[in-house]
Amino acid sequence: MKYIVVTGASAGIGLETVRFLLGKGCYVFGSVRTTADADRLTGLFPENFTPLVFDLTDDVAMAASVEQVAAIIGESNLTGLINNAGIVVPGPILHLPKEKMRHQFEVNTFGPMVLCQLYFPLLKKKGNNPPGRIVNISSLSAEIALPFMGPYSASKRALSNLAHALRREFYPYGIQVVDIQPGRVKTGIVDTLAPNASHFIGTDFEAGMKRYLESAQYLRDRGLSPESIAASVYKALHEARPRLRYVKPYRYFSRWKIPSSLPARLLDRILAKRLGLLPEYLKNKNTP
Ligand SMILES: NC(=O)c1ccc[n+]([C@@H]2O[C@H](COP(=O)([O-])OP(=O)(O)OC[C@H]3O[C@@H](n4cnc5c(N)ncnc54)[C@H](OP(=O)(O)O)[C@@H]3O)[C@@H](O)[C@H]2O)c1
Repeated sequence: MKYIVVTGASAGIGLETVRFLLGKGCYVFGSVRTTADADRLTGLFPENFTPLVFDLTDDVAMAASVEQVAAIIGESNLTGLINNAGIVVPGPILHLPKEKMRHQFEVNTFGPMVLCQLYFPLLKKKGNNPPGRIVNISSLSAEIALPFMGPYSASKRALSNLAHALRREFYPYGIQVVDIQPGRVKTGIVDTLAPNASHFIGTDFEAGMKRYLESAQYLRDRGLSPESIAASVYKALHEARPRLRYVKPYRYFSRWKIPSSLPARLLDRILAKRLGLLPEYLKNKNTP
C-alpha cells in the first residue's frame, strides 16, 4: 500500500488530489482545519482515507499528526508528503501590515518547512520500500511576481528555493523534493482575494488593485482544472525520474513562455499599462 499525506484537503487542488490518489489505490491522509471538514471528508471517502486535523501555524498539532500517521502505516514508510495548503495575502506592499506578511509566510512557507522536518523519519527508506517524496504546490507566482501579489510571490519563491536546497540536502537519503508551479486553477482561492485586500482602499493603488482583482476572477473562470494538478502530483510521486519542477501554466505561451522571456523592464511597462500604474495615472489623479 502507498501512503500519502496531502495538506489542505478540504477544497480545491487538495480535495481533488485526495480523490485522484484514492482512485489510484493509495491510502491518503488529508489535512483539514475543522472537525466538521474531517467528518465531511470521511463521509466522502469512506475507505483508505484518514483526516488529520491541524492548522499550518500550529506546530504541536502538526507533530501530533505524525504520531497518528505512524500508527496507521506501521512498518511501511510514507510514499509522499504533498504540501498543498496555502493562502494568498494580496495588496500593495506599501500599505501592507507586517503581521499580514508574517501570516503569509507562516502558512505558505514555514508550515510546509516544519512538516518536512516532522515527516522526515516516516519518509526515509524502510525495508524494501523506496524512500518517500515531498511534493510542494508552489506557483508560477514564484517565478513572475505580479503587482499586488508580492507577499504571495515571495512566500512561494521561498518555498520553491527551500525545495531546491532540501532536494540537495536529502540526496544521501534518496528523498526527492519536487516543485509544482501551477498558473491559474479553477478553485475558490480567488474569492479570498478581495476580502483580504482592504488595505488598498483609498490609496493610490485602489483602481489598479480593482483591475487586478477583476482579471484574477476572469482568469480563474478560464483556468486549469484542479484534477490536472492532481495528475501532476501523481506523476511527481511515481515517475522513476521526476522533474525538479512541473510548470503548469493555463496557457503555455501567453501566460508563461512570453512573459518569462521578455526583458523585465518591458514586462514592467506592459503590466503598468494594464493595471493603470503608469506615472500619468498619478499625475491625472493629483490634478485638481
Ligand atoms: N488556484 C490557483 O490558481 C493556484 C495557482 C497556483 C498555486 N496554487 C496553490 O495551490 C494550493 C491550493 O490552493 P487552492 O487553489 O486549491 O485553494 P483553496 O481551494 O482555497 O484551498 C486551500 C486549502 O488550504 C487550506 N488552508 C488554508 N489556510 C490553512 C492553514 N492556516 N492551515 C492549514 N490549511 C490551510 C484550506 O483549508 P480551509 O478550508 O480550512 O481554509 C484549503 O484546504 C495553494 O498552496 C495555492 O497557493 C493555487
